[in-house]
Amino acid sequence: MERTFIMLKPDAIQRRLTGKIITRLEERGLKIVAAKMLQITRELAMEHYQEHKNKPFFNNLIDYITSAPVLALVIEGENSIKLTRKIVGATNPQEADPGTIRGDFALHTGRNIIHASDSPKSAEREIKLFFNEDEIYDYTMPDEKIIYEPGD
Ligand code: GTP
Ligand code: MG
Repeated sequence: MERTFIMLKPDAIQRRLTGKIITRLEERGLKIVAAKMLQITRELAMEHYQEHKNKPFFNNLIDYITSAPVLALVIEGENSIKLTRKIVGATNPQEADPGTIRGDFALHTGRNIIHASDSPKSAEREIKLFFNEDEIYDYTMPDEKIIYEPGD
Protein backbone atom coordinates (compact mmCIF):
# COMPACT_ATOMS: atom_id res chain seq x y z
CA MET A 1 0.00 0.00 0.00
CA GLU A 2 1.29 3.47 -0.88
CA ARG A 3 2.74 5.67 1.87
CA THR A 4 2.94 9.44 2.03
CA PHE A 5 4.36 12.05 4.36
CA ILE A 6 2.03 14.56 6.00
CA MET A 7 2.97 17.32 8.39
CA LEU A 8 0.60 19.42 10.46
CA LYS A 9 2.40 22.75 10.50
CA PRO A 10 2.82 24.91 13.65
CA ASP A 11 -0.35 26.94 13.00
CA ALA A 12 -2.46 23.75 12.84
CA ILE A 13 -1.21 22.70 16.28
CA GLN A 14 -1.51 26.20 17.76
CA ARG A 15 -5.05 26.60 16.42
CA ARG A 16 -6.03 23.25 17.98
CA LEU A 17 -6.93 21.78 14.58
CA THR A 18 -4.94 18.55 15.04
CA GLY A 19 -7.94 16.35 15.83
CA LYS A 20 -10.12 17.75 13.04
CA ILE A 21 -7.40 17.30 10.42
CA ILE A 22 -6.51 13.76 11.47
CA THR A 23 -10.20 12.85 11.54
CA ARG A 24 -10.57 13.89 7.88
CA LEU A 25 -7.71 11.61 6.84
CA GLU A 26 -8.96 8.72 8.98
CA GLU A 27 -12.58 9.03 7.91
CA ARG A 28 -11.52 8.79 4.26
CA GLY A 29 -10.12 5.34 5.07
CA LEU A 30 -6.44 6.27 5.26
CA LYS A 31 -4.29 4.69 7.96
CA ILE A 32 -1.74 6.36 10.25
CA VAL A 33 1.38 4.19 10.31
CA ALA A 34 3.75 6.65 12.03
CA ALA A 35 3.37 9.82 14.09
CA LYS A 36 5.81 12.17 15.80
CA MET A 37 5.55 15.61 17.40
CA LEU A 38 8.73 17.62 17.08
CA GLN A 39 10.07 21.13 16.75
CA ILE A 40 11.97 21.11 13.48
CA THR A 41 15.51 22.47 13.40
CA ARG A 42 16.44 24.99 10.71
CA GLU A 43 18.72 22.33 9.17
CA LEU A 44 15.88 19.82 8.85
CA ALA A 45 13.47 22.50 7.57
CA MET A 46 15.95 23.57 4.88
CA GLU A 47 16.52 19.96 3.86
CA HIS A 48 12.79 19.23 3.76
CA TYR A 49 12.02 22.31 1.62
CA GLN A 50 15.31 22.20 -0.40
CA GLU A 51 13.42 22.55 -3.72
CA HIS A 52 12.40 26.08 -2.63
CA LYS A 53 15.80 27.31 -1.47
CA ASN A 54 16.02 30.01 -4.14
CA LYS A 55 12.45 31.24 -3.78
CA PRO A 56 11.76 34.68 -2.29
CA PHE A 57 9.57 33.16 0.44
CA PHE A 58 12.17 30.57 1.56
CA ASN A 59 13.36 32.36 4.72
CA ASN A 60 9.79 33.10 5.83
CA LEU A 61 8.88 29.47 5.17
CA ILE A 62 11.77 28.22 7.32
CA ASP A 63 10.89 30.70 10.12
CA TYR A 64 7.26 29.56 10.02
CA ILE A 65 7.92 25.84 9.98
CA THR A 66 10.47 26.00 12.84
CA SER A 67 8.46 28.45 15.00
CA ALA A 68 6.68 25.82 17.15
CA PRO A 69 6.14 22.05 17.15
CA VAL A 70 4.69 20.19 14.18
CA LEU A 71 3.06 16.79 13.93
CA ALA A 72 4.74 14.53 11.37
CA LEU A 73 2.73 11.58 10.05
CA VAL A 74 3.17 8.72 7.65
CA ILE A 75 -0.16 7.88 6.05
CA GLU A 76 -0.88 4.68 4.16
CA GLY A 77 -3.60 3.86 1.65
CA GLU A 78 -4.30 3.17 -2.00
CA ASN A 79 -3.08 6.12 -4.09
CA SER A 80 -2.44 8.02 -0.83
CA ILE A 81 -0.04 10.58 -2.35
CA LYS A 82 -2.49 12.00 -4.91
CA LEU A 83 -5.44 11.49 -2.60
CA THR A 84 -3.96 13.44 0.34
CA ARG A 85 -2.94 16.29 -1.98
CA LYS A 86 -6.61 16.51 -3.02
CA ILE A 87 -7.81 16.37 0.57
CA VAL A 88 -5.29 19.09 1.52
CA GLY A 89 -6.23 21.44 -1.35
CA ALA A 90 -4.38 24.16 -3.27
CA THR A 91 -1.20 25.76 -1.87
CA ASN A 92 -2.93 29.15 -1.70
CA PRO A 93 -5.90 28.62 0.63
CA GLN A 94 -7.74 31.43 -1.20
CA GLU A 95 -7.80 29.09 -4.20
CA ALA A 96 -8.40 25.88 -2.28
CA ASP A 97 -11.85 24.39 -2.79
CA PRO A 98 -14.26 24.38 0.15
CA GLY A 99 -14.23 20.86 1.59
CA THR A 100 -10.45 20.66 1.43
CA ILE A 101 -8.41 21.14 4.62
CA ARG A 102 -6.82 24.40 3.41
CA GLY A 103 -10.11 25.50 1.83
CA ASP A 104 -11.92 25.12 5.14
CA PHE A 105 -9.33 26.15 7.73
CA ALA A 106 -6.76 28.52 6.19
CA LEU A 107 -6.62 31.93 4.51
CA HIS A 108 -3.00 32.65 3.66
CA THR A 109 -0.34 30.80 1.59
CA GLY A 110 2.28 31.49 4.25
CA ARG A 111 0.05 29.90 6.91
CA ASN A 112 -1.52 26.97 5.10
CA ILE A 113 -1.54 24.54 8.08
CA ILE A 114 -0.53 21.27 6.42
CA HIS A 115 2.08 19.71 4.16
CA ALA A 116 1.62 16.66 1.94
CA SER A 117 4.25 15.01 -0.30
CA ASP A 118 3.70 15.82 -3.96
CA SER A 119 5.12 12.67 -5.67
CA PRO A 120 6.33 9.14 -4.88
CA LYS A 121 9.92 10.40 -4.96
CA SER A 122 9.18 13.23 -2.48
CA ALA A 123 7.20 10.89 -0.24
CA GLU A 124 10.09 8.44 -0.01
CA ARG A 125 12.63 11.20 0.64
CA GLU A 126 10.50 13.01 3.22
CA ILE A 127 9.50 9.86 5.12
CA LYS A 128 13.21 8.96 5.43
CA LEU A 129 14.04 12.48 6.59
CA PHE A 130 11.60 12.35 9.52
CA PHE A 131 11.32 8.66 10.46
CA ASN A 132 13.51 5.64 11.02
CA GLU A 133 12.15 2.44 9.51
CA ASP A 134 11.44 1.02 13.01
CA GLU A 135 9.16 3.98 13.78
CA ILE A 136 6.80 3.06 10.94
CA TYR A 137 4.26 0.37 11.82
CA ASP A 138 2.90 -2.40 9.66
CA TYR A 139 -0.49 -3.47 10.96
CA THR A 140 -3.94 -4.36 9.71
CA MET A 141 -7.16 -2.46 10.34
CA PRO A 142 -10.17 -4.77 10.73
CA ASP A 143 -12.21 -2.63 8.30
CA GLU A 144 -9.68 -2.83 5.44
CA LYS A 145 -11.69 -5.65 3.87
CA ILE A 146 -14.75 -3.38 3.91
CA ILE A 147 -13.00 -0.26 2.61
CA TYR A 148 -11.16 -1.99 -0.26
CA GLU A 149 -12.74 -4.38 -2.72
CA PRO A 150 -11.14 -7.77 -2.02
CA GLY A 151 -8.84 -8.97 -4.78
CA ASP A 152 -8.94 -5.62 -6.60
P1 GTP B 1 3.69 21.84 0.98
O1 GTP B 1 2.78 20.66 1.09
O2 GTP B 1 3.90 22.57 2.27
O3 GTP B 1 4.99 21.48 0.27
O4 GTP B 1 2.88 22.87 0.06
P2 GTP B 1 2.62 22.78 -1.50
O5 GTP B 1 3.27 21.56 -2.08
O6 GTP B 1 1.17 22.97 -1.71
O7 GTP B 1 3.36 24.09 -2.03
P3 GTP B 1 4.90 24.31 -2.38
O8 GTP B 1 5.68 23.05 -2.20
O9 GTP B 1 4.96 25.01 -3.69
O10 GTP B 1 5.33 25.36 -1.26
C1 GTP B 1 5.78 24.92 0.01
C2 GTP B 1 5.24 25.85 1.06
O11 GTP B 1 5.88 27.12 0.93
C3 GTP B 1 3.74 26.17 0.95
O12 GTP B 1 2.92 25.21 1.55
C4 GTP B 1 3.67 27.49 1.68
O13 GTP B 1 3.69 27.28 3.11
C5 GTP B 1 4.97 28.15 1.27
N1 GTP B 1 4.79 29.00 0.08
C6 GTP B 1 4.67 28.60 -1.20
N2 GTP B 1 4.51 29.65 -2.03
C7 GTP B 1 4.52 30.74 -1.22
C8 GTP B 1 4.38 32.12 -1.46
O14 GTP B 1 4.22 32.57 -2.60
N3 GTP B 1 4.45 32.95 -0.36
C9 GTP B 1 4.62 32.47 0.90
N4 GTP B 1 4.68 33.33 1.94
N5 GTP B 1 4.75 31.17 1.17
C10 GTP B 1 4.70 30.32 0.12
MG1 MG C 1 5.29 21.07 -1.74
